[in-house]
This record gives sequence, C-alpha cells and structure tokens, in this order.
Amino acid sequence: MAKLTERQDNNALRMLPMPKGLIDFSSNDYLGLARNVDIFNKASKLLEKKGAWANGATGSRLLTGNNGLYRQLEEVLASFFGSESALVFNSGYDANIGFFSAVPQRTDVVFYDELSHASIRDGIGMGLAQSYKFKHNQLEVLSRQIDRVRERKIGSDIYVVTESVFSMDGDTPDLRALVELCASKGAYLVVDEAHAVGVFGKRGEGLLNELGLQDMVFARIVTFGKAMGCHGAAILGSDALKSYLVNFARSFIYTTGMPPHSLATILAACEHLSASGREQQQLSANISFFKDQLKNYDLEASFIPSNSAVHCCLVEGNEKVKNWSLQLQDRGFDVKPIMSPTVPKGQERLRFCLHSFNTENEIKDVLLILAELFDKR
Ligand SMILES: Cc1ncc(COP(=O)(O)O)c(C=O)c1O
Repeated sequence: MAKLTERQDNNALRMLPMPKGLIDFSSNDYLGLARNVDIFNKASKLLEKKGAWANGATGSRLLTGNNGLYRQLEEVLASFFGSESALVFNSGYDANIGFFSAVPQRTDVVFYDELSHASIRDGIGMGLAQSYKFKHNQLEVLSRQIDRVRERKIGSDIYVVTESVFSMDGDTPDLRALVELCASKGAYLVVDEAHAVGVFGKRGEGLLNELGLQDMVFARIVTFGKAMGCHGAAILGSDALKSYLVNFARSFIYTTGMPPHSLATILAACEHLSASGREQQQLSANISFFKDQLKNYDLEASFIPSNSAVHCCLVEGNEKVKNWSLQLQDRGFDVKPIMSPTVPKGQERLRFCLHSFNTENEIKDVLLILAELFDKR
C-alpha cells in the first residue's frame, strides 16, 4: 500500500478511464478497423459458413482449443506477412513473454534496446539467458557490446531484439544496418512490429517487408490489436521455431485458445488489408500533414522525429504533462500523457496517435492548442 501512496504522491497513480467521446488522438486503432462494419460482418459470415457456433475455444490449443480456423488463419498470416510459418498467441504480451522466456537458453545472451516494450523485458526476465540492454537505436554501441561478449562466451547464441516502431517514441532503428550487423556477428535478430503492421508495407505487412528485409530476421512479432483493430498476435519464423514454441512457450501452452470470432475477425481484417489500401493511404497523408503542421507551428523541435503513426511531444514532469493533456481533453482532443515510470523521469510526453480518420482540421486545431500551451509557459 505504501507503493500506492508513493505513486499518488508522484502524480503517477494509474486509473481506468472511461471513453469520453473525444476526438481520437490516442487509440492504437490507426486505420479505424476496430469499428469497420464490413470486417465485423465478414467475420460473422465466415463463422456461419464454417458452422463455427462456439463462444469459446474450450481449452488450450494443445488439448481441445485448436480447430480449422486456427489452421486457416496461420496459413493466411504466413502468406500475408511472407514467412515460412506463423503461430498465433492470445496477445502480443503473451507472444513476447512466450518467445523470450523459452527460446534463448541458459548459455545464450540477449541484447535488447533500452526502450523495448515491457512484454519483451518481462519475457527476457523470465528466461535463463544473460541479458544486456543497449542504448536506444545506437548500433555502434551494440556492436561493441556484442564483441565484448563474444570474446568471453565463445559458442553461445546471441539474440538481438528491437521494435520496428517504438511504441512510446514512434521512431525506428536503422533496420538495414541492424540486419547487416546481426549477420556479420552471427546474431539472431528478433523484431517486434506491433506498431508497424497496417502502417508500413504495401498492404500493411510491416516495416521489414517494406524494406525487403523480412527474410533476414530470425523472428517477427506482429500484433492484431493495433492497426488491425482486432486482438491477438503471431510469431513469424521458421517451421522449426513454430514447433519449438508449441512445445516450450508456456504462455502458448498453459492458456485457453482464442474464441472463433476473434480468429474470424483477424482473417477478415487481413482480407480487408489485402483488398483495400484506402485507409493506409489516408493515414500516410495524415502523417505527412501532421509533420508539415509541426513546422508551421514551430513545434518540430519539441517532438521526437517519427515517420510512423505515433508522434511524441516532450513535456517534462508528470504534473505538467498531465495538466496539458487535461487541457487538450477539455478542448475536445483525446491526447494521452505518458508519464514516468512508463518513460524515464524527465522524458514525460504527450503521445499523439494519428489515424486514417483524423481530419486535417482536427490536426490543425489540436496543434494550435499545443502551440498556445507552449507560448503560455
Ligand atoms: C511494441 C509492443 N509489443 C507488444 C505489445 C503487446 O501487444 P498486445 O496489446 O497485443 O498484448 C505492445 C502493446 O502495447 C507493444 O507496443
């Protein structure tokens, strides 16, 4: 309880908010697919066609929870994302803890970007391998760290993990250089594409696909709860990796499978992304417009450089960032504060999530208020 009081004293107590019907600059529903009626209807029709009248999976996939929809979905995902295999997990959190707690062995070493998502860090913490963080996106530092470990630990496998779009920064590592670095050091590269799916790639297959690097990584984590507007995740990799995870990833084995309607919704969302690039084009236009407006309002220097749907404005201190977020909310815009300890102290920020459905006027208006807040400081 003392820890709760400490949180309260630091202005950092987490509470569950209810929707307030504000203009959305905060959800991960980058393409508006979470409320796409066509996808909803297609999923229902698919369930009807398959006679999949079930509200739940009834058990772990290793017992009674597996079915034809899972097989169909994993085939579609492997083909959509361009991978030998796909294994569906109940969430991105489960996928990351499953992978990192099971794949690297006791004698192995994992290097992870210091800003990696909690699910990656939790997974590494649950595993037996030694782990080291490296400075955010600093590949030269990483290269020296790998060399030092290689000198000491000949014969161990080295894993490097990063995100193609960082969830709390919106920025991206130099993926081409990282792929080359890992190849030259004989390290296995794992990339979490949670915030790149739907945003990058011709049909939204992610940033590695856009760069033609999808075959150069050991594993990719893709999630369906963000731009795809559904729920769940998959680990993409080789058939052998899939079989290993089915046998050893505890967050896959010891949990009930997803209900059929979740699987059908992911299938319908994949079909939608394959058929229509409309939302992705609108999102991309909005990202360009937002960046132009940052220049217009002289706000560029306060933002972390980003080409993704996530744009963060640094506003130091929990109290101040919370206050600015409330002022934006009072004026009708849902922009969330990201406070410490979620981000390091001193790097608190307002996180603007852009969507295909945001209008240019909404973007101009929200940035005008932000510029006023900076002027009033
Ligand atoms: C980079 C990253 N990986 C994994 C996850 C977890 O995904 P999920 O919400 O499907 O559990 C998130 C969610 O915030 C994320 O940002």
